[in-house]
Amino acid sequence: MEANNLNVIVGEGTCGIAAGSKEVIEAFRKHAPEMNIRTVGCVGMCHQEVITEINDGNGNRHIYGNVTKKTVPSIIKFHKGEGDLPEDQLIFSPDNQDLDKWRYLAHQTRIALRNVGYLDPTSISEYQARDGYKAIKKILADMTPEQVIEEVKISCIRGRGGAGFPTHVKWNFAKQSEGDIKYLICNGDEGDPGAFMDRSLLEGDPHNVIEGMLIAAYSFGASKGYAYIRAEYPLAVKNFGKAIKDAHELGVLGDNIQGTNFSFDIKIKEGAGAFVCGEETALIASIEGDRGMPRFKPPFPAIKGLFGKPTIINNVETLANLPWIINKGGKAYASHGTEDSKGTKVFALAGAIKKGGLVEVPMGTKIRDVLEDIGGGSSSDKPLKAVQLGGPSGGCVPENLFDTTIEYAAINATGAIMGSGGMIVMDESTCMVDLSKYFLSFTQNESCGKCTFCRIGTLRMRELLSKICDGHGEMEDIEALEELTEQIKKSSLCGLGQTAPNPVATTLKYFRNEYEAHIKDKRCPAGVCKSLITHTIISTDCTGCSLCEIQCPVNAITGQKKVKGSYVIDQAACINCGMCFEVCNSKAIKVE
Ligand SMILES: Cc1cc2nc3c(=O)[nH]c(=O)nc-3n(C[C@H](O)[C@H](O)[C@H](O)COP(=O)(O)O)c2cc1C
Repeated sequence: MEANNLNVIVGEGTCGIAAGSKEVIEAFRKHAPEMNIRTVGCVGMCHQEVITEINDGNGNRHIYGNVTKKTVPSIIKFHKGEGDLPEDQLIFSPDNQDLDKWRYLAHQTRIALRNVGYLDPTSISEYQARDGYKAIKKILADMTPEQVIEEVKISCIRGRGGAGFPTHVKWNFAKQSEGDIKYLICNGDEGDPGAFMDRSLLEGDPHNVIEGMLIAAYSFGASKGYAYIRAEYPLAVKNFGKAIKDAHELGVLGDNIQGTNFSFDIKIKEGAGAFVCGEETALIASIEGDRGMPRFKPPFPAIKGLFGKPTIINNVETLANLPWIINKGGKAYASHGTEDSKGTKVFALAGAIKKGGLVEVPMGTKIRDVLEDIGGGSSSDKPLKAVQLGGPSGGCVPENLFDTTIEYAAINATGAIMGSGGMIVMDESTCMVDLSKYFLSFTQNESCGKCTFCRIGTLRMRELLSKICDGHGEMEDIEALEELTEQIKKSSLCGLGQTAPNPVATTLKYFRNEYEAHIKDKRCPAGVCKSLITHTIISTDCTGCSLCEIQCPVNAITGQKKVKGSYVIDQAACINCGMCFEVCNSKAIKVE
């Protein structure tokens, strides 16, 4: 094959860069300067980064995963007809489109993510080539704001930022609201641990989000927009900033867009680095220059929001669906999903899963299908135990409920929430009390402190969880946790406090036996809580390799090198750090 006819496409989202995409590009430039190199956002297969495609321009695509600067030469050789196909890295080729690795993408339905990983996010012409800015041109030429709202109503899309409020209803409130100026805010704060859906959209397909903002703004008459993007997402801020500039030059952003009397402009505001700033009233305070603290609602932002004017806040993913909905029609969108929940939903799969990354599936898909068919199941040799949906505001769904379908009501019935799409997968090595302590510590740290139930209530819950994990728990502590759960949910001012006890409530519901084992038997069944476990060496399995002795940070292990079964742990000196367990290749360390 002629190398100068070949295009090299390298994934350069944040995960690609972290995995070494810059070095991979450098290696292609060095070994095959005649090849054309393009970069795209993250296609979502984060477990296979750096992902690289070699494309001959005639639709023949070879896609490789886990590419490093060292493996680049073998890929080049194959495409120059000088070497064998690097099969271990192959994800997809014209001759092999059914590789297990490819199932990750093949099992998805991509609407919000349709361009991410396919186009260069810094190129407005590539966006245009994939129907970009067609929707805004269509509505400016042919549709009234009422018709746009009607189309979105037909699509039945509900906000993807967590609460699932019907998008068209919110827009109608703002449309009917009086105001000389109206604002639209794109919420790209994404503070949930384990979530990165919005980052991927902002950095991988920023024009799609801008076009979504234009559609929303047109529907209720906003003339000014803010994109509130997490400051910890520098690539998203950079790509979105360039996209705003290029959209201006193209004439789809700014004054009198496409010669109409519709004007709309967007400013980026970098997030203040607090989870609560994702809450809409706190977010508004943050843009206004105040400390990001929520306020009581009503008045709702749609009536009195940013600078006292009618304001709509929409999540990044909600906005990213809108150009598709306008181009293909609300009915086409609603043809995906279930009665209760239409369309698709993007999830960020992380934790004890083989194939972590971004997944977009139709609503109604079973949780199990996402974890097993797409995610490939457990990444360890241990079975899966549960999945945390909705981050710290969400809850834990146990393995026996993995057949639950992904739709708002069904997920709520488990005690979890759809949330914004974080899916943290846990295997048998996770202690559910310790996990609850982690989420509670997160929300307690992130509480803005304005209301007592959230500020003090979450602190008390965290103290109780620590007490149980430390082996000092009493059965009354469970009752106290339940009582606090009710009170904090009922009495907190904003969604942060109202949802903070959810991880505890769901783990108590499904894994109460683990709480009881910690309290009654002073035992941590998963072998995680340091105060409740002991490490011992099974002498019949010990090979005498001495690795545990070398790695033990407190010199608690002694024995004779190369003498099988000679090693022992001094329990008085052991700090249960688990280092011996980590390094033992013969599985001779017992944790109880
Ligand atoms: C503590 C807290 C944090 C939140 N963080 C986010 C966030 O990071 N992104 C987001 O879109 N919505 C977040 N929300 C929900 C927003 O307040 C709001 O409901 C959402 O942005 C509305 O957009 P949608 O209707 O398109 O879903 C958060 C809510 C709470 C209570």
